[in-house]
Amino acid sequence: MSKKILVCFGTRPEAIKMSSLVHELRKSEFEIKVCVTAQHREMLDQVLDFFEITPDFDLNLMTANQTLNKLSGRIFTEMDGVLENYAPDLVLVHGDTTTSSICAWAAFHRGIATGHVEAGLRTYNKYAPFPEEINRQITGRIADFHFAPTETSKNNLLSEHTAAESITVTGNTVIDSLLWTVGKLDSGFSNDRISELESKVDFTKKVILVTGHRRENFGDGFLNICKALAEIASRPDVEIVFPVHLNPNVQKPVNDLLSGYDNIHLTEPLDYPSFVWIMKQATLIITDSGGVQEEAPSLGKPVLVMRETTERPEAVEAGTVKLVGTDSDVIARNAFELLDQPSVYEKMSKAYNPYGDGKANARIVEFLKSKLT
Ligand code: UD1
Ligand code: UDP
Repeated sequence: MSKKILVCFGTRPEAIKMSSLVHELRKSEFEIKVCVTAQHREMLDQVLDFFEITPDFDLNLMTANQTLNKLSGRIFTEMDGVLENYAPDLVLVHGDTTTSSICAWAAFHRGIATGHVEAGLRTYNKYAPFPEEINRQITGRIADFHFAPTETSKNNLLSEHTAAESITVTGNTVIDSLLWTVGKLDSGFSNDRISELESKVDFTKKVILVTGHRRENFGDGFLNICKALAEIASRPDVEIVFPVHLNPNVQKPVNDLLSGYDNIHLTEPLDYPSFVWIMKQATLIITDSGGVQEEAPSLGKPVLVMRETTERPEAVEAGTVKLVGTDSDVIARNAFELLDQPSVYEKMSKAYNPYGDGKANARIVEFLKSKLT
């Protein structure tokens, strides 16, 4: 009988990175079902629509401004029923969210094996990223199979005494999803959001793409980020495009402080192909996102990361990503340097692929075939 794999995810980035894997898994002999916690609702559904995935189980758990503990409690309770009824042989989770760690833990409580996609990223600072660093460590302790995107992440796992035969280096599935999406765009895919951006943004200017949502930046961090963006927008030669995350802790400061500038375009979160399209048009990207740090180097776009530390050191070491923290002067100064000094820009905009070659999904499926017999 086919082994049963339950793929669990809940937020936008997990969905982007797991959807292309679901398609690859469905080509195998395994029985595949998808369970979404819907820790995110609208931002998850955008991704499910684009990748044409209909979940087999939709826990529909998101509530406005949810707390980590209440969300965790609901995931435990609802996952228990799914695991009892479907009784999978393996649960696959991704990355570092509350959905990942609690789904892994719920599977463990029921004696079900777990595979961790995007395993082994670490800062070893439990408050940065918060709570993601600890979510990753918990998931790593529980998981039976570890899909490490890079050698660095594999070495982190080995240094924690994770069994070597349970780890495989696959590259990051985000590159599989990105390359597939770029392929669609290159062959003429468009939609209303892309048309809207084309008509609203002045692409004769330098376009700066911005995203932000990290919990450790809530409060003063976001106030500083907005101050930096207002200063950057005082230049007539730039256009800022900022798709604003739906978290109320982001919506409020950004809308309060950055509405009303002609050259700052605050938009709803963009569907994935529109976001990839605008990344391709951008001169530079300013973000605190993990996924964007992985995608932008593949597209040859310099990234200023508004964090003090990162669990993705590879592109920083290669010089295409720079950590700038959340001091407004430092953010603005680094942006101006990239805008005004061609030699600095050229160094940071070399296309570089430390996170994968687009074949991570195939490697994950092959590894599972060798282990799940
Ligand atoms: C979550 C993840 C974070 C990940 C990020 C990606 C945790 C603890 N955090 O953070 O690791 O990097 O997603 O974006 O797992 N909201 C909506 N609609 C949506 C999504 C969010 O309204 O589609 C609002 C809701 O009010 C929700 C709030 O945002 O309660 C926070 O969502 P939550 O998933 O708890 O945290 P994020 O900051 O999105
Ligand atoms: N993204 C998107 N629309 C947006 C902003 C980001 O589709 O408006 C994509 C982006 O390309 C990347 C992922 O969302 O693949 C990153 O998600 P996020 O920054 O929310 O989470 P993180 O990666 O930091 O966990």
